[in-house]
Amino acid sequence: MRRTIIAANWKMNNLTSEVINFFAEFGDAALNSENEVIIAPAYPYIPLASALSKNKNIEIAAQDVYPKAEGAFTGMVGGKMLADLGVKAVIIGHSERRRIFGEPNDLIREKVKFVQENGLHLIFCVGETLPERENGVMFDVLKEQIHSAFDDNLTLAPEKITIAYEPVWAIGTGVTATPEQAAEMHAFIRKIMKEKYGYEDSRILYGGSVKPENIQGLMANEDIDGALVGGASLKASSFMKLVNF
Ligand code: 13P
Repeated sequence: MRRTIIAANWKMNNLTSEVINFFAEFGDAALNSENEVIIAPAYPYIPLASALSKNKNIEIAAQDVYPKAEGAFTGMVGGKMLADLGVKAVIIGHSERRRIFGEPNDLIREKVKFVQENGLHLIFCVGETLPERENGVMFDVLKEQIHSAFDDNLTLAPEKITIAYEPVWAIGTGVTATPEQAAEMHAFIRKIMKEKYGYEDSRILYGGSVKPENIQGLMANEDIDGALVGGASLKASSFMKLVNF
């Protein structure tokens, strides 16, 4: 049984007052949900979000990690800091990290390794751009992203390896993949995970303009195990609807 995950990626949004208001309004929404609820605030707000979500069935995640425990790495946040803050899950390889910050596959691979060595829940993002889809190479792109990150061997338990399929053309655009498009890609990822790595029970989330109006259609597919949500997760009123879709 794969338990559904509804995860919020707040990206570079939500200031102190907004975080406080979010949790005040969100209340016990996650306690009342049968789904696993994860929220990834920006680094400085992790302690506040952790304190406000205590005992509420919410796991606080980081949006990234630098793959070292600690040291002379100006501007970075490493493993010991995440452990110190009680963070148990990390998003790696988000398309904004890949494209805006030029994260290459070998750094992503190092991060995946580091997350595994530290026993954290890995939320690993993959997805093709619009030109890649239009050229029909989306399967090759996903295969390459997965292989280059995972070929050092996966060691974590299946429930700690989560893949997020986030087509770049659907992120923040309001254009959502149709349930059929998403299902096709999820089935492809599931096949790779099973046949190449022996992971049958890892969760595969869909991300890209998920909102209360379209979540049910997406979640109806058996290969879609949840959602990684950006814009529609910023306000409690909308995220509450998503966690209890
Ligand atoms: P949106 O939900 O804003 O499209 O963002 C998706 C995303 O990138 C989540 O990681």
